[in-house]
Amino acid sequence: MGHERAKRAAAEQASLLVEDGMRVGLGTGTTVAFLLPALAARSLDIVCVATSPATEKQARSLGLDVRAFAELERLDLAIDGADQVDPAGWLVKGGGGAHTREKIVAAAAEHFVVIVSADKLVGEITPPVPLELLSFGLASTLRQLGEVRLRPGPPSPDGGVIADWYGEIRGLAELAGRLDAQPGVVEHGLFPAEMVETVIAGDEEGGARKVKG
Ligand code: A5P
Repeated sequence: MGHERAKRAAAEQASLLVEDGMRVGLGTGTTVAFLLPALAARSLDIVCVATSPATEKQARSLGLDVRAFAELERLDLAIDGADQVDPAGWLVKGGGGAHTREKIVAAAAEHFVVIVSADKLVGEITPPVPLELLSFGLASTLRQLGEVRLRPGPPSPDGGVIADWYGEIRGLAELAGRLDAQPGVVEHGLFPAEMVETVIAGDEEGGARKVKG
């Protein structure tokens, strides 16, 4: 954990972007955990989808209306944390293993807003890059991927194996393309900058500022 004040500041500022009538995607993680009460406190008439069972549980306990994502075709806004944000707005996500659902939700949203403590802003993205892999053919997928470590812990809510890629990053688009093209990779944690409309970074003094968007 750590950086609570900064995470809370970013989350509270992002909660103000949500308006009555919106369909809202809720991310996963310790920063989003500050977003949910801030959002619930506004008592808006909104419908939400959650990117993980943990978020769904917390959101429901706060009285937010969480629907199955199979029901909604598109979202107005999605708000989520990140592990790394580079100056162009590329992200690494998946520290909590939820990146597959997070990417589906972000892609469905008209606006994708990222909330981070300022320590997540990096000059250059470095490994690890989280992966979700199919267990079918796992040994072969791992051999083809090269430098990958399986993460201890439970599978994803969709039954995927969570792992981390530790190879050398020569270019983010090249790596994302390579991981996209690898059979057996369900999803990876690199989110392209084009997907990210806004990044809000919180600081330890309790302030928050837009660093993108
Ligand atoms: C979940 O799998 C992740 O993508 C999180 O969104 C990311 O790791 C940020 O988490 P924190 O807000 O806990 O730092």
